[in-house]
Amino acid sequence: MRSLEHDWLKQLLWGCTFDDFLIAPGWGVATSRKNISLVSKFSQNIPLNIPLVSANMDTITGARMAITVAKKGGIGIIHRYLSIDDQCQKVEEVKREENFIIEKPYSTSPNVTIGEARSIMEKNKVGGLVVVDEEGRLLGILTNKDLRFCRDSDSVDGRMSVRPITGSPGISLSEAKILLDKFRLEKLPLVDKDRKLKGLITSRDIENLEKYPLANKDSKGQLLVGAAIGATGDYLERTTDLIRAGVDVIVLDIANSQSDVAKNAVINFRKKLPDAELVVGNIVLPEAVQVFEQLGVNGFKVGLGPGSACTTRKNTNIGIPQAHAVYGCSTVSRVPICADGGIKRNGSIAEALMLGGSSVMIGGLFAGTDETPGLVFRDSNGEEVKAFRGMASREAMHEKLRAEEDDDPYETSSRISPEGIEKKVKYRGSVAPVIDEMIGNLSSAISYMGAMSLQEAKEMFMAHPMSYLIKLSESAKRESWDR
Ligand code: XMP
Repeated sequence: MRSLEHDWLKQLLWGCTFDDFLIAPGWGVATSRKNISLVSKFSQNIPLNIPLVSANMDTITGARMAITVAKKGGIGIIHRYLSIDDQCQKVEEVKREENFIIEKPYSTSPNVTIGEARSIMEKNKVGGLVVVDEEGRLLGILTNKDLRFCRDSDSVDGRMSVRPITGSPGISLSEAKILLDKFRLEKLPLVDKDRKLKGLITSRDIENLEKYPLANKDSKGQLLVGAAIGATGDYLERTTDLIRAGVDVIVLDIANSQSDVAKNAVINFRKKLPDAELVVGNIVLPEAVQVFEQLGVNGFKVGLGPGSACTTRKNTNIGIPQAHAVYGCSTVSRVPICADGGIKRNGSIAEALMLGGSSVMIGGLFAGTDETPGLVFRDSNGEEVKAFRGMASREAMHEKLRAEEDDDPYETSSRISPEGIEKKVKYRGSVAPVIDEMIGNLSSAISYMGAMSLQEAKEMFMAHPMSYLIKLSESAKRESWDR
């Protein structure tokens, strides 16, 4: 983009946000929006097949949300308001959800009781165990169907299916699929010539390859997942454990990373973990981009106060409107930017991406769905609702103090000045159709602009922003948004 146009765009966006603009269409060339590629990046080394990231909020992203978003092609960031062990367990749950080959399947000995085997299965949320001897040689397999109608005191030995059909460790997925199909198997253990267990392939993993073609996976076929850390206290220990648990990207997330606290945390992080993928947030100043890029961060999370459960702007009067902030940071950043917060309707996703975001982080629009942590309950009107809250709300801060085992949470919590609120949102069923609708709307926006992919649309937009971005009058806003 020529610098004149850049100056014009900067001025146009100053103090503005998503609802202040429309994007003018181009000449459409796509025959179907299904053919539009939405490939992008969350950070330098974390790819996305759809540019959606679920927010690291305790009422949005636990393991279930992270699994669903990654299966659709995005990534979820597990929140940090829980103990290190609990956060690592959630990361492990996501990493175990899908595999090309499960390298270390859950196993048991033939001599334990069915009750013990059942509790291993329940604890790890798996539908079967391989049974091995002391040398790790395969003896049998125990699945839910073997457990029906038996007593907890029975032994595994007497219930397992013996001499199951096996594959060799080098088997290809298509060969495994043929065996699974031919013998109507759920699970195919892989053994070497001494019958030592070397892995497991499940029919569900193979089915999922076809069911979720855009799933965002690592080289082992496991779903990608991120996890949040803070900038003080246990953040380095937390990171080391999360990496051991298999996390793919760490998100250092504090309300204002434009600070010495965050800068020192990033310096310490890089000293200890030079190669770990690190996204830093939240920032809104281009100057902060430059500071952190020199320290070797791999991505940024941009936003101060636009979130639907945030009261930072109301309670402190500090913030930068989100369209202004995203464009300002993206013009100087060489690493991907995640536009975090303020997406109140699907159309804003396209705008955040055109203005320089490589992805958008979603909180409120995912709230109230099955995959969010928390229970469905009935409010005083008898409506089914779930809780949704800002991470700086009084309620979430209390939870954090509990997770940190604060000696005197009540004394400490009385000093909290909240910058977020808790609300009840209508229960909405699964998040999957919500994501599908977002993706459909984004693909339509790209095709209206005359592009075949998100990347192409972004390039077209940035090459000629004056042809696309339209600042709305008050009556144009009413015409566009009032329904
Ligand atoms: P949406 O609009 O998608 O935004 O709900 C999600 C983002 O909101 C941020 N967040 C907060 N900001 N006080 C704040 O000022 C809070 O209590 C709070 N909780 C979440 C966060 O960046 C999230 O991704």
